[in-house]
Amino acid sequence: MEFTTIKVQLGESMAWINLDRPEVRNALNDAMISELTEAFDWLNSRDDIRVIILKGNGKCFCAGADLDYMKAMANYSYPQNLDDAQKLSKLFQTIHFCDKAVIVCVHGACIGGANGIVSAADIVIAEKETKFAFTEVRLGLTPATISPFVVAKIGLTHAKELMLTGRRFTAEEAKTFGLVNAVVAEGEMIDIERQYIDHFLHASPDAIAECKNLLRMVTCTDDRFNPIYLLTSEAIANQRISEAGQEGMAAFFEKRKPNWE
Ligand code: COA
Repeated sequence: MEFTTIKVQLGESMAWINLDRPEVRNALNDAMISELTEAFDWLNSRDDIRVIILKGNGKCFCAGADLDYMKAMANYSYPQNLDDAQKLSKLFQTIHFCDKAVIVCVHGACIGGANGIVSAADIVIAEKETKFAFTEVRLGLTPATISPFVVAKIGLTHAKELMLTGRRFTAEEAKTFGLVNAVVAEGEMIDIERQYIDHFLHASPDAIAECKNLLRMVTCTDDRFNPIYLLTSEAIANQRISEAGQEGMAAFFEKRKPNWE
């Protein structure tokens, strides 16, 4: 398959996906969201693939939603804006409902929407120096479409602190919050990644898929038609065209403080 914003490499029983917009720190724009969703769907449909490993090219894993394209949503009709927000939610759902074992390896920075990917995945390995944050409120936005996945992963106490303050936190803290499974020194990522791959290859692929289904059932996150996905898409569609959202995103690009600071 041909992609422009991601790179996909197939190996025996596994596939690597690399986010590939390093010049904007792999920020998720509409093309990357579509391609990533398509890649996960395609790999999920292949019997020969048992483990999917997602990484980011360049300095950072991912700077979250592409603020340039989010800001431009003010020029779109509301139905277009909502449709677009639902595509972002669909990406997280696609990873959450994937039958294959999904490992995410993060480095550099893992901000905003990137934590939706992390929360929807099965195993997250973080380089020690990775900076994490849910910056949305500092941008006049809300971490809307990611919230069902993040809250299910880390619980309300941590979600409240991190989402309401927008503060940065370290990889070690992310581990204590349950957002990541392992923190590694630079250069050790490949060994730990390999260990998890080996664990998954010892397991039956059918049992992995069933076990993932079981874990969704016991955490009540197994409803593909849960209205929360639409409600959270509506929330971000409204927030990104709001006065606060437009001001926060403009301030980011103009490298200045927003008018509420
Ligand atoms: N959307 C669009 N562009 C982004 C972006 C985003 N989320 N994050 C970074 N960029 C762009 C910057 O505008 C900059 O562009 P420029 O070279 O034209 O000035 C380029 O990517 C490099 O960013 P910079 O901040 O210089 O990189 P850095 O390595 O010093 O820091 C981050 C990396 C991820 C820590 C920092 O870019 C950041 O905090 N980004 C914002 C992340 C965010 O708040 N996302 C939440 C979205 S809801």
